[in-house]
Order: sequence, then C-alpha cells, then structure tokens
Amino acid sequence: SSSKILIKGGTVVNAHHQEVADVYVDNGLIVEVKPNIKVSDDVTVIDATGKFVMPGGIDPHTHLAMEFMGTETIDDFFSGQAAALAGGTTMHIDFVIPVNGSLSLGYEAYVEKAKKACMDYGFHMAITKWDEKVASEMDIMVKEKGVNSFKFFLAYKGSLMINDELLLEGLKKCKSLGALAMVHAENGDAVFEGQKRMIELGITGPEGHALSRPPVLEAEATARAIRLAGFVNTPLYVVHVMSIDAMEEVARARKSGQRVVGEPVVSGLVLDDSGLWDPDFNVAAKYVMSPPIRATGHGKGLQAALSMGTLQLVGTDHCTFNSTQKAFGMHDFRKIPNGVNGIEERMHLVWDTMVASGQISVTDYVRLTSTECARIFNIYPKKGAILPGSDADIIILNPNSSFEITSRSHHSRSDTNVYEGRIGKGKVEVTIAGGRIVWENNELKVELGSGKFIKTPPFSYLFEGLDKSDASYISSLRAPVKRFNDNPSYNSQQ
Ligand code: URP
Ligand code: ZN
Ligand code: ZN
Ligand code: ZN
Repeated sequence: SSSKILIKGGTVVNAHHQEVADVYVDNGLIVEVKPNIKVSDDVTVIDATGKFVMPGGIDPHTHLAMEFMGTETIDDFFSGQAAALAGGTTMHIDFVIPVNGSLSLGYEAYVEKAKKACMDYGFHMAITKWDEKVASEMDIMVKEKGVNSFKFFLAYKGSLMINDELLLEGLKKCKSLGALAMVHAENGDAVFEGQKRMIELGITGPEGHALSRPPVLEAEATARAIRLAGFVNTPLYVVHVMSIDAMEEVARARKSGQRVVGEPVVSGLVLDDSGLWDPDFNVAAKYVMSPPIRATGHGKGLQAALSMGTLQLVGTDHCTFNSTQKAFGMHDFRKIPNGVNGIEERMHLVWDTMVASGQISVTDYVRLTSTECARIFNIYPKKGAILPGSDADIIILNPNSSFEITSRSHHSRSDTNVYEGRIGKGKVEVTIAGGRIVWENNELKVELGSGKFIKTPPFSYLFEGLDKSDASYISSLRAPVKRFNDNPSYNSQQ
C-alpha cells in the first residue's frame, strides 16, 4: 500500500483532547493533524466520518514465545503481533526471560525471536535470581540495550521467585539506573502451602488453582513490595492487579504520595472465576492464570479504580497455551501452564466495558490503552499520540459497529479463547502500523520482519524530582507519626 495516507473527517482523539480533523501520514510518520487537509491524488484516502481516530493500542504486558512451566507459549512474535494488529494494538512490551540467569543471553534469544516481528515492540527484563553479574548486566541493558524496566517475581517458588533481600537489592539497582521496578505480587511461599493443602484435600482440578492462592496472598505481597519500594524510595509498577484487595494497597500508597503504578489486565476486568469450576476440564483450564481470575465483584471494583485513576493503564498478560498444553495439568492443577489470551481482544473489551457503558470518556480510553503506557516507559510522544512527528500507529474505531470473539476467527494460534462467544459494541475497522495499512475490511496485510525494536530510555516522568540525597533518606526514616494523631477514628475513642 501507499506510504501516503489521508484519514478524513474522523474524530481525532488524544489523551488530553479530541476534535474533528484530518490526519496526514507520510513515510511512517504523522505529518499533519488539522481540518480539511488538501493532498495530491497519489494519496490513499480513508473516510473516517462518524468514527474515532486514535493512537494504536500499546500493550504493556505480554509473553510471546516464552518458555514457561515446561512448555512454550503458542503465540510467537508473528502470530501474537498479527493478532494484536487485528485488534487495534500496534505495539507491545514483552518480558525477556534470562537464559541460565544471564540477562544478555536472554536478551540475545529474544532478539532472535523478534526477527519475526510485524509490529513495533519493546522489552522488559525478568529478574529471576540475583548476583553481581546480574547487577552489572542490568547496567548494560539500560545503558546500551534500551530496556528500562525489570520484573521481580514474589511468586513461582522454586523457579522465578526471589526473596525480600534480593528484591531490595533489585529495587536499589533500579533506582540508581532510573529503571522502573515491576513486581508480580503474590506470596510464593504461602501459595506453595496453599497448593499442598488443596492436593491433600483431594482438590486437583482447575478450581484448586484459585483456592490455593486467594486475594489475601496477592494483597500481602502487593503491600510488601510497595512498602519496600517506599523504603528504598523508588517508583514501583505492580503488574496484573487482579483483586480489590491488592488494588486497595495501590490506592493507599498513591494517596500518601508514593509513586506506584497499578496495571489491571483485561481478564481481571471482565471475567470472573466461575469458569474454573466448569465440569469440562478443557474449559476450566483455559481460565488458569496467576494471580487467579477472582470471584464476581473484583472486576467491577478494578474497573471503578481505573475510571477514578487509582489504576493507570490496562495490559493483557497475553500468555497463550493451547488445550493440549493446558492438559498437562489434567490430574494436577499445579501443572496447568498459567496464562490466558488477550492481545487481540483488549481494545474491544475495554471499549465495550468502559466506554460504551459510559464509565469513561474516549480521551480516558486513549490514555489507559496507549498514552499512559508510552509515558511510563518513556516513549511519548513518539508513541501514544496522534501528533505531527509521532509514529503513524493509528486505529479507526467505529462505535456503531460490533465485535464478536471466537477461536474460529481469532488470529492467535491457540485453539481456545478465554473470551469465547463475547459480543460487544465498537469495532476496530482499520489499523495503521508504521504508516502501513495492516488491517482493513477484516483482512490482515502484515509483513514478517517489518516490526522495529523501540528502545525505552531510563528516568521516565515517574523519577522526576525524586530526591536521591542521603539527607532526605535519613530524614524519611525519622518522619514524625502522622497516622495516629490525624486519624479521627482514633481521636473519637479517647
Ligand atoms: O499466568 C500468568 N500470568 N502467566 C504469565 C507469567 C506471569 O506471571 O505474568
Ligand atoms: Zn506475573
Ligand atoms: Zn505476565
Ligand atoms: Zn484473518
């Protein structure tokens, strides 16, 4: 297709503003945004009258071609990204897993995997153990490789889990590099105990997964990670906030002024745990992810937190296994590979659940599906905006059309879909990525290898004005008691 595109007459939406305007794209970039742009006739014109023209979605949390729980996720950088583009997501940030504890070997492996990319992507790095070598490799990742975020696992005992001592080392290192510490917040020791108890009780099916790791274990780890990040005085990003209990820990910290970001994922927003009790193992197993999808009510609570700004952006944790892989845990839920799909469904489900229902505005939608992610990972306004000079990653969404989700037509390689049968309002009719029309008339036109790695620089806005001096650290340790005297409920009991 032509590299010159004019999108005419749509409502152009950014996180801060919306207006009816044309958008002119040339050579992979947005060149102009204003009403009535005149162009020559070699330009491809798309009529967007009555539709929303928005920055392509950015998914902050995916696992493509990841080796995990004895197998590998079924979507690689080609199929996962093709699915993303068909659903209006034009960039994602994937988690690099170290190889034998080596960050650089892990990085090299992911550079190889990503040669198939058909859309832009960035990398977070998972930290799975701690020593001097890991610490020095973090320097290289940030300063030379364009990685500005590191995920620490407080769960997955025996494989990915690290203890508090190592978490503290990691937090300090992140702070010194201007890198964002991310945390998978579940108490792994307690989960291990909970799993043993379920097996002893004879509960070996997928429901045992949810019962073995209830919200209290997510809340405990969330509170612990937040408090340790506060102790070190560095920002923290809590991935996949799945329960009201954990969300309230994020809310409390933010209210006190701490720099904490909370990321709910689509499955936590729109699903409940009933599927885990489905008598058909193949149905129940597809809902297994960690932290677990919670009981009815948590999703609504997380939606409310998003609409109030307590949580800031939506990811997917796209981590897809087919039914053959899920069946590894047929007789023991602990062996069911953890993960659900979502990279293709996120933009539609958030629109339908949050915008079509009237909970949030269209500008808020852009903020929490795209702009906020770009700001947090320091790539705004190259990404996350429809502005002159920004990358031409654009979607056109028709609010009067509808979507339907089924594994029969989705673009993931999986034979199942955790959102099977869902229909809703709003349809991404066109996706433009890197200035090329890649999704139109329900047809994908993607090109193997056309996606680019996007470096994420350190010291995002979350670090602005952060006082790193020893004097401020020492005085923070002697902060006067505020809570007791300022809390009216204590005073009224006197
Ligand atoms: O179940 C999940 N979430 N699988 C992916 C790995 C992770 O913890 O994010
Ligand atoms: Zn996780
Ligand atoms: Zn994940
Ligand atoms: Zn197709």
